[in-house]
Amino acid sequence: GASMTLFEAVGGEPTFRRLVDEFYAGIATDPLLRPMYPEEDLGPAADRMTLFLMQYWGGPNTYSAQRGHPRLRMRHAPFRIGAAERDAWLRNMRRAVDRLDLEPEIAVTLWDYLERAAYFMVNVEDDP
Ligand code: HEM
Repeated sequence: GASMTLFEAVGGEPTFRRLVDEFYAGIATDPLLRPMYPEEDLGPAADRMTLFLMQYWGGPNTYSAQRGHPRLRMRHAPFRIGAAERDAWLRNMRRAVDRLDLEPEIAVTLWDYLERAAYFMVNVEDDP
């Protein structure tokens, strides 16, 4: 119905887990992005991302219970994110979204958000 959250519409936590697992499988072999992740084990980072996305889309607020206010731009400040990093991130995320075989309308809603969020996270200007 109209009041269903996107979290519910996509099938809840298992779908977000699949999305983020696919995404991090790409990150694991990405020559630009992999070195940016401080921990050798990507599992905890994947867990934070899963919980954040679940919360954003109307699921349980476990992310904030564990991590506090998201403040994502601030949390990304230690990492150099330019156009190349943004585009690599989006490439991995696009592949992950496509793997889910979501209803087109839902896939578009999800993607629009992810794309805007990735542009918002950029924190360095490219050299002219
Ligand atoms: C954390 C990179 C965009 C959500 C991180 C971390 C890195 C990173 C290196 C640290 C890993 C960790 O220990 O958690 C990037 C790059 C991006 C990007 C290169 C390119 C644009 C985004 C976007 C979102 C996002 C668009 C959300 C839609 C998160 C979350 C965390 C995180 C939720 C964990 C924050 C925490 O609780 O500490 N990101 N990120 N990231 N990122 Fe990104």
